[in-house]
Amino acid sequence: MVAGCRIRHPLRWFLLLALGAFLAWRFLRPLHIFVIAPAFERPVVTAGAPAVLGDLHAETCGRCHPAFFAEWRTSIHRQAWDDDYFQADWRFDGREYVCRNCHTPLDRQQPRRLLGFRDRDKWDPILATNRDFDRALQHQGVTCAACHLRQGRILGPYAGVDAPHPVARLEDPNQVCLRCHVVDGRRWDNFYRFPPCGTVAELEAGRGEAVGRSGETRLPDLASLGCVQCHMPLVERPLVPGGQVRRARRHLWRGGHDPAMVRRALAVELQPVAGGAGGRAVRLVLTNVGAGHALPTGTPDRHLTLDLEATDAAGRVVASRHDKLIRRVLWRPFIVDLWDSRLLAGRSRRYRLNLPPAAVAVEARVRYHLLEGHRQRRIGYHGRTPVAFDIYHARLRLQSAAGETP
Ligand code: HEC
Ligand code: HEC
Ligand code: HEC
Ligand code: HEC
Ligand code: HEC
Repeated sequence: MVAGCRIRHPLRWFLLLALGAFLAWRFLRPLHIFVIAPAFERPVVTAGAPAVLGDLHAETCGRCHPAFFAEWRTSIHRQAWDDDYFQADWRFDGREYVCRNCHTPLDRQQPRRLLGFRDRDKWDPILATNRDFDRALQHQGVTCAACHLRQGRILGPYAGVDAPHPVARLEDPNQVCLRCHVVDGRRWDNFYRFPPCGTVAELEAGRGEAVGRSGETRLPDLASLGCVQCHMPLVERPLVPGGQVRRARRHLWRGGHDPAMVRRALAVELQPVAGGAGGRAVRLVLTNVGAGHALPTGTPDRHLTLDLEATDAAGRVVASRHDKLIRRVLWRPFIVDLWDSRLLAGRSRRYRLNLPPAAVAVEARVRYHLLEGHRQRRIGYHGRTPVAFDIYHARLRLQSAAGETP
């Protein structure tokens, strides 16, 4: 017995130390929130592009397709590299190479050539100087060729057109979005409910489809995704000036940076209701009526805040509540989705504020935020782009407690 204890003691200490070291490593190691998939582990190959496409700059396409160029220029895809929030976050993350494959996806947009990887997880690339690097093209972010150029041909919905460049048929336009808008979190030590920026999985969950452990996405049914249908509105116009008028899609991709687009997703209802014990209350109902995925979607930084404030006749706040619609993830020591108060497609949530007798008015405000203040400070982001804006603001005057109008 005594001899047994002598053996077990050092073993217990050893196990505790090993566990401590393991946890310390989990807190200190670089945090990789997604898994690098074959779809985006390498940049898009531009070798073999036909001579008529020249330097592949958007301006070159724009010479023949000016309407598409004019729209793309105003889009966030155009900003995918210059975007000051991306740049701050990328610096903070130690300038990981793989980020370039979605934010500057063409091989010519990258200063280094990717030869392979040193590690199995593909976070440690083997790089060489890229003689074809084009800095001006890098600044175009997600440029025309990133979505359209494959194996020397331009993908489009028609394929039968008479174009000076070879064309190939794009079976379903939503296919184009998946390369960059789906990242998986599937790894033994991740416990996501939705993948890191889980737009597609949210869409499926909104329709009541099952989402796998660690937020893995199955091969989605492309036609029913609707990304292009909502983010690239239909328009009748010629593809080139003077050309045949065709069914085309606007190249706008409005989303979290556009107040009008976010407003389209949200319906708000604010009304007085009976409170408990004969008192009064107000009820606010938020419904996701316009986004196929969660509102908000995208990086887990995106969130909405809701403020309800009741004031008395002198304008003093007599009751209030503050809520956040946000996805909360525990990043260390393991990635675990803690909770998610965002609105899936078609879902509503009610918020209630009980009113004291002195209340004469209620003010309601819903704001969209690209990221939280503490994270902004942590990554040292002091950008020019506003990081929050109002999407709903209203003031409701109340009947007084006794029922007479104030
Ligand atoms: C010299 C002029 C010219 C240039 C440069 C050019 N295009 Fe075109 N493109 C055309 C013409 C002409 C058509 C056919 C229009 C029609 O029939 O309505 C076309 C058709 C297309 C289509 C539809 C293809 C289909 O089959 O559905 C796409 C997409 C397209 N171009 C994208 C691009 C992109 C991206 C670039 C730059 C990388 C580019 N084009 C550069 C002239 C040009
Ligand atoms: C080559 C990669 C790539 C492809 C392909 C791509 N995107 Fe994006 N998309 C991005 C990146 C990167 C951003 C973020 C840019 C930034 O803010 O830095 C983005 C942002 C967006 C946004 C957010 C706009 C905002 O205001 O924040 C929308 C909406 C969007 N994309 C829709 C689409 C749709 C629809 C498709 C398919 C037609 C598509 N994207 C294809 C890389 C891509
Ligand atoms: C983020 C991906 C993406 C980028 C960037 C992009 N396109 Fe497209 N483009 C598409 C998709 C998807 C379609 C197919 C839409 C459909 O089904 O009609 C398309 C269609 C087209 C068409 C055929 C007409 C139509 O709307 O169907 C033309 C022409 C075209 N794009 C030109 C351009 C030019 C020029 C640029 C750059 C200035 C550009 N595109 C940038 C995704 C993109
Ligand atoms: C029914 C219309 C609808 C469909 C379908 C839809 N979206 Fe959206 N999307 C919206 C609206 C409205 C917003 C703005 C509100 C929000 O952020 O949820 C938005 C926002 C976004 C954003 C902005 C997030 C950010 O970080 O700023 C991205 C990215 C996006 N959508 C991508 C997609 C992709 C990819 C698909 C297809 C898998 C898709 N959307 C399908 C309507 C739609
Ligand atoms: C698989 C493609 C992909 C990779 C790889 C990728 N991103 Fe993105 N990134 C996107 C897309 C798509 C969006 C826009 C939709 C969203 O909000 O999720 C985006 C949005 C962002 C935004 C928000 C930009 C804004 O203006 O609000 C930041 C910041 C960002 N990415 C940083 C990074 C960093 C840092 C890395 C590398 C560690 C990285 N991204 C790697 C596709 C990618």
